[in-house]
Amino acid sequence: MPILDSHTIDFFSRSPEQTRRIGMRVGAEIKPGDVICLQGDLGAGKTTFTQGLAQGWGSIDSVSSPTFIIVNMYRRASGGKLFHLDAYRLDSVTEAEELDLDAMLSEGSLIVEWPERLGGLIPKERMWINLDHIEEERRQMRFNANGKRYDELLEAIRQSMFGGS
Ligand SMILES: Nc1ncnc2c1ncn2[C@@H]1O[C@H](COP(=O)(O)OP(=O)(O)O)[C@@H](O)[C@H]1O
Ligand SMILES: [Mg+2]
Repeated sequence: MPILDSHTIDFFSRSPEQTRRIGMRVGAEIKPGDVICLQGDLGAGKTTFTQGLAQGWGSIDSVSSPTFIIVNMYRRASGGKLFHLDAYRLDSVTEAEELDLDAMLSEGSLIVEWPERLGGLIPKERMWINLDHIEEERRQMRFNANGKRYDELLEAIRQSMFGGS
């Protein structure tokens, strides 16, 4: 796994199950107020990754693609909330502005599919993950940390995936 610079790591997945497992590792490390952005084409694996992330976080609710609604909320026994936002169907900036991201972040963590559609509404400090369809079952996931908290999160994920440094 190449480490490109101290803020970036590439992961490669060979199956939906593997993408889910990588998501689980991330979910186990996230804290209230964290923002995770998933950018990638339809079928890149954003929702699959989110299913793993929610499971690793401890969700008692199952994850589905928010097809008709824009935001799903998941809970866990130990408390806290995980918001799953899919901006694919957002029609306008006004509609986007009505989503109160700050309110969500004061209550829990946030994972966003199609974050580029929210433009400047996404906090500048966040984990940005680019998912690329390489082959039928192969995906590249490039994690990019923006801000100190996300450098820490990236390091925790790296430790969780590869063991010590
Ligand atoms: N390595 C992989 N990781 C994630 N999904 C994969 C992978 N290989 C094949 N797939 C398939 O690609 C599709 C990804 O769908 P989904 O997670 O809903 O994508 P998105 O939310 O990005 O549109 C699923 O049908 C899944 O089975
Ligand atoms: Mg999706």
